[in-house]
Amino acid sequence: MYTVKCLNPISKQGLDLFDSEFEVIDDLGAADAVLVRSAKMHDLEVPDSMIAVARAGAGVNNIPLDEYAAKGITVFNTPGANANGVKELVVAGLLLASRDIIGGYNWVKEHAGDEDLAKAVEKQKKAYAGNELKGKSIGVIGLGAIGVLVANICNRLGMKVYGYDPYVSVRSAWSLSRMVNHSSSLDEIFEKCDYITVHVPCIDSTRGMINKEAIAKMKDGVNILNFARGELADDQAIIEGLASNKIKHYVTDFPNPTIAGVDRVITIPHLGASTEESEDNCAEMAVDQLMNYLKNGNIINSVNYPNCDLGEVETARITVHHKNLPNMIGQLTAILAADNHNIQNMLNKSKGDWAYSMLDIEREPSKEVIEKMKAVDGVVRVRVL
Ligand SMILES: NC(=O)c1ccc[n+]([C@@H]2O[C@H](COP(=O)([O-])OP(=O)(O)OC[C@H]3O[C@@H](n4cnc5c(N)ncnc54)[C@H](O)[C@@H]3O)[C@@H](O)[C@H]2O)c1
Repeated sequence: MYTVKCLNPISKQGLDLFDSEFEVIDDLGAADAVLVRSAKMHDLEVPDSMIAVARAGAGVNNIPLDEYAAKGITVFNTPGANANGVKELVVAGLLLASRDIIGGYNWVKEHAGDEDLAKAVEKQKKAYAGNELKGKSIGVIGLGAIGVLVANICNRLGMKVYGYDPYVSVRSAWSLSRMVNHSSSLDEIFEKCDYITVHVPCIDSTRGMINKEAIAKMKDGVNILNFARGELADDQAIIEGLASNKIKHYVTDFPNPTIAGVDRVITIPHLGASTEESEDNCAEMAVDQLMNYLKNGNIINSVNYPNCDLGEVETARITVHHKNLPNMIGQLTAILAADNHNIQNMLNKSKGDWAYSMLDIEREPSKEVIEKMKAVDGVVRVRVL
């Protein structure tokens, strides 16, 4: 029986996936694994029994990844589980930028009690006329889980879509509509597009990518959408672009005191993944990955160890968390060879300073074999499954 402690409320839809080999418990001190959303784990004392943390969501800055890697604790997250929620809000953002829904809504609210409202509407409506998305060009920067969905739906809305992602994964490339034009430079996106939407992580190379120079290259009246991270845009440059009418609207999910309230900034309070469905998807994915890891040792979507998948355990499997050093495999296999083990299948991958090895063998290993593996310099955890 494996025990799991939830540090935050986790969607029932996810928890219901646990089969009879798993029990959700209250006592962290007795847990094999933890499910977490936003609870801060940096100062949390965790028991030696804990071997995995699954974050139902994408961001992991509430978890001490390096410290856990050094203890052989695998940390998982759920990339892409909220992609559809974000995609749908981007579509709403496009419509809010192209049609003056907010201006029109406010006017109707102000005049809600007017006797002749229906007549007044017919006179007033031209003040809120807009444009259609069909036929307009959109540049999607970053074609990951969210960017691909956004690009594909924009194509179905009749927009001319340009996609830019120099590191696009094979999975994303397969999922992308063939109608999406491949842009080989950001400048092409800046120069050609009526709408520009960013879906990249906020890292050193992307922070401030929507800056003064970038905006200067854009079409007059461009609409910029940012549902990725506030720091990707230089707020001051956005404000200047709006003031000079270079930018028509800046739609962002990340308000801050500099940008909120500025004319033609449409900002909402980080609602991208705030849907029941996203929470359910994240919890389902986290539980699924946790069960697979605890039962089979397979690592899918870890942030501090490499992804490794050998399918279900057939006879016996040894998994080893270790430092990414030379000759680790040589030492581990020599221990098995000395005890006459036949290795049926094997996988070893590394991620930064850490590595993970899976060894499928034809019979249960003895205690001595496992103790010898644990004693290898650089090994931090050995499991037998
Ligand atoms: N608004 C919200 O609530 C919300 C929710 C989830 C994610 N997000 C944000 O959206 C971002 C994207 O999420 P995702 O799930 O699609 O992530 P992802 O990892 O699946 O995709 C990111 C993509 O960006 C690409 N990329 C990296 N650097 C790039 C660069 N310099 N130029 C172009 N492309 C680059 C990567 O190759 C990858 O394909 C996340 O990093 C997160 O900040 C926001």
